[in-house]
Amino acid sequence: MTRSNRLASGNPRTSENRIVTISQFTDPDDSRQVEALIEFLDQFDQLPQAQQVRHHTHERLGPVQGRGVDVGCGCGRAVAELSARGLDVTGIDLSPHMIETARRRLPDERFTVADARKLGLPDASLDWYRAERVYQHLADADSGLREAWRTLVPGGRILLADPDWDTYLINAPESALTRRILRSFTDSLPNGRAGTRTTDQLTTIGFVDVTVSVMPMVFTSLPAVQRLLVEPAVEAAQIAGVITPEQSREWLDEQHRLEEKGQFNATVTMFVTTARRPT
Ligand SMILES: C[S@@+](CC[C@H](N)C(=O)[O-])C[C@H]1O[C@@H](n2cnc3c(N)ncnc32)[C@H](O)[C@@H]1O
Repeated sequence: MTRSNRLASGNPRTSENRIVTISQFTDPDDSRQVEALIEFLDQFDQLPQAQQVRHHTHERLGPVQGRGVDVGCGCGRAVAELSARGLDVTGIDLSPHMIETARRRLPDERFTVADARKLGLPDASLDWYRAERVYQHLADADSGLREAWRTLVPGGRILLADPDWDTYLINAPESALTRRILRSFTDSLPNGRAGTRTTDQLTTIGFVDVTVSVMPMVFTSLPAVQRLLVEPAVEAAQIAGVITPEQSREWLDEQHRLEEKGQFNATVTMFVTTARRPT
């Protein structure tokens, strides 16, 4: 049985062959698949494209001083990098299991379990705030941003990095089917267009000096992103009922044929938005 056959049969989640749907990050401990989510994050974080985005966010955060947080820190990779740059950073995540893993891997760093919408910190206690690929999981992004506003000092800096999944493109001859697959991936996330939506929300709340930079992530190897980005999209489309198991099998087989000919390519754009709470 090929991998695409397994996916189309609707039984892809064995311990050897787990497909993670990115939407599970919304409530990772409840998904009972947190180990798979951690494995997913580890694989994603190692992609050169993901490393470039992280590096870009560190540059964009700029020479901040004082106390800061990385909200939705996962297993803490960015926390370790920011700390190595001399920043005073605490990693915060909703998932106790993620935080346990982060503490085990990075015993010298600080981590706390909390919800982005209720950080449990005093008013005006943070000089800077960072969240990468977190707001895509928040249906009520506004609550998270208001909490950021409340906890930042006047003049404090916020940085958000998220994709807008409507920028996700995959080379495929079947345009209409491919659009259905990719758009249902956007719609499977609570806030799949976070990358472009947050600018409005930040300014509505009162943040100023909003600037956006974009980082296209380009992938030319199917094996590198098959389980991270391609199969989850097909899975989302199947769950939404917009493609049949047979269509998903054929579409995935076509992706393998393109890969064999060196013609696989996929892109998604990350939006890195910074702003400031006015003084
Ligand atoms: C896609 S991962 C990104 C992790 C990390 N920021 C990175 O860039 O590798 C999303 C993370 O956000 C966390 N998360 C989801 N909803 C959250 C919430 N409401 N508050 C805090 N963390 C949340 C998840 O547990 C997960 O660790």
